[in-house]
Amino acid sequence: MQVIEYDKLDIVKYPAISLRKKTKAVKKDEVDLAILIPKMFEIMYKYEGVGLAATQIGLNYRIFVMNVEQDKNKKGEKVFINPQILEREGFQDGNEGCLSIPGIYVSIKRALKITAKALDENFQEFEVEAEGLAARAIQHEMDHLNNILIIDRITPAQKIKISLELKKMEDEYFEKIGASEGYKKTVLKHGR
Ligand code: NI
Repeated sequence: MQVIEYDKLDIVKYPAISLRKKTKAVKKDEVDLAILIPKMFEIMYKYEGVGLAATQIGLNYRIFVMNVEQDKNKKGEKVFINPQILEREGFQDGNEGCLSIPGIYVSIKRALKITAKALDENFQEFEVEAEGLAARAIQHEMDHLNNILIIDRITPAQKIKISLELKKMEDEYFEKIGASEGYKKTVLKHGR
């Protein structure tokens, strides 16, 4: 089992490289899901998100959690391990934010309805049909597992509008970690 310091897990923000680190399928008993899953929900609720992918807390595993219910009722909690989107139908436009890029909201076109399959917290396979916000959240979190961020899905015109804010996040991050020029280039080659 991989040693993870669960208490130290927290949101990883743009442009941190872990958001761009290739993910791997979760194997049974490789990570302690009984600890990891509640921790992921805890972090998601702390930052008032509706979904959270492992890459957003620095773990490159194919797992995300979500709860799109208004009251954040426990029964609204869904866990997706090694998920796949099987079908997409229709389109929806809407503003989307991301806990890893706080303060940025951009309009993104997504499929209106999707069918997905995944393993749940007990490693049992399930299939789900989702629509509207739930479908949007699943597509957003799937993107995280494929290292795609909302800023990769917007038009050049949209990107110009938020470029100053992104630059500020990059500068703050690079200063915090004391990044070399070479490392900055490596991080930024993933696009902005
Ligand atoms: Ni996100």
